Amino acid sequence: MSFPELVLGIESSCDEMAAAVVRGGREILASTVRGQAQVHQPYGGVVPELASRDHVRSVSAVVEAALATAGVAPQALQGVAVTAGPGLVGSLLVGLSFGKALAYQLGIPVVGVHHLSGHLMSAELADAHFAPPYVGLVISGGHTALYRISEAAPPLLLGETRDDAVGEAFDKVATSLGLPYPGGPALAAAAAGGDDGAVAFPRPLLGEAGLDFSFSGLKTAVTLEVARRGALGPGDVADVAACFEAAAVDVLVARARRALAQEGLARLAVVGGVAANRRLRREMLGAAQQDAFAVVFPPPELCTDNAAMIAAAGARLLARGEDHGMALNSFSRAPLERVPWTAAG
Ligand code: KG4
Ligand code: ZN
Repeated sequence: MSFPELVLGIESSCDEMAAAVVRGGREILASTVRGQAQVHQPYGGVVPELASRDHVRSVSAVVEAALATAGVAPQALQGVAVTAGPGLVGSLLVGLSFGKALAYQLGIPVVGVHHLSGHLMSAELADAHFAPPYVGLVISGGHTALYRISEAAPPLLLGETRDDAVGEAFDKVATSLGLPYPGGPALAAAAAGGDDGAVAFPRPLLGEAGLDFSFSGLKTAVTLEVARRGALGPGDVADVAACFEAAAVDVLVARARRALAQEGLARLAVVGGVAANRRLRREMLGAAQQDAFAVVFPPPELCTDNAAMIAAAGARLLARGEDHGMALNSFSRAPLERVPWTAAG
């Protein structure tokens, strides 16, 4: 497949406004991300209306910054790729409308990208030799799922969470431990100084067949432990964080191993914000050595939301001649294997 020379990617599905320029579907010339932690911090979570309003204020500057860093004039672009969903519709619409307007003005195609196909593409961006077929473990604030990724067939869902996403569990446990928003990275930092043998938390569904996940029981077990301890000192916070992290990581590693064995594959991509977790990386690399499979973890800046992954995934659609045009709309939910605007949809 020959990819368009220069693609602009825009991602605004949640609380990050991001823009990137990718050359030839693989080479990141610029990737700019503007977070909103200061906007949502007082509320302890993302407030959708505030997120979209902040996106309106930042979208032009973020796109201009990416183009300037790349040294690319808008007229040199061959296509625009925007995240169309899933996500917060108000947030999505800001990036999507901007991308459509820019493409219209420049007379170039615009394609909508499924956020999860962007995350999966981050593995191929991180390692040029990594290619289908492989098992993709998508672990973020909104998703926890295993897919079989093939060259010709659409992604096949192998298993997913029945309740909370693992990133959401990290964020909620962090809040119950009094750690600052955003919780995942703060919890991981606290866990580094804790004793992971202090409490034995459950490993939900691990005894069951299949490849589904569940994190709400683990989250409840942590809440009960926090209540039992009463006033938490720094040692309590570190120990509970370490034990929660150990339980969550055990589940992710065990499910990934089972998926690889079931599918007869020896390649694994671990993508999404939680893939930045150091303990997960360490444990998964240990499993990879034992079971002899290859694992790709994108660098942390490609794990959390970014537009380079969207530009790279969009480049593949553009290379097939797709142009979703001005009818392209955002969607809050849709399975990866059935994207609304494709013929299969
Ligand atoms: O992919 P992402 O940036 O956004 C979504 O698509 O959801 O993932 C964000 C999630 C949040 O739940 C955040 O707490 C979690 O990734 N996260 C982490 C770490 N860094 C980010 N979780 C555990 N350990 C980390 N180091
Ligand atoms: Zn994401």
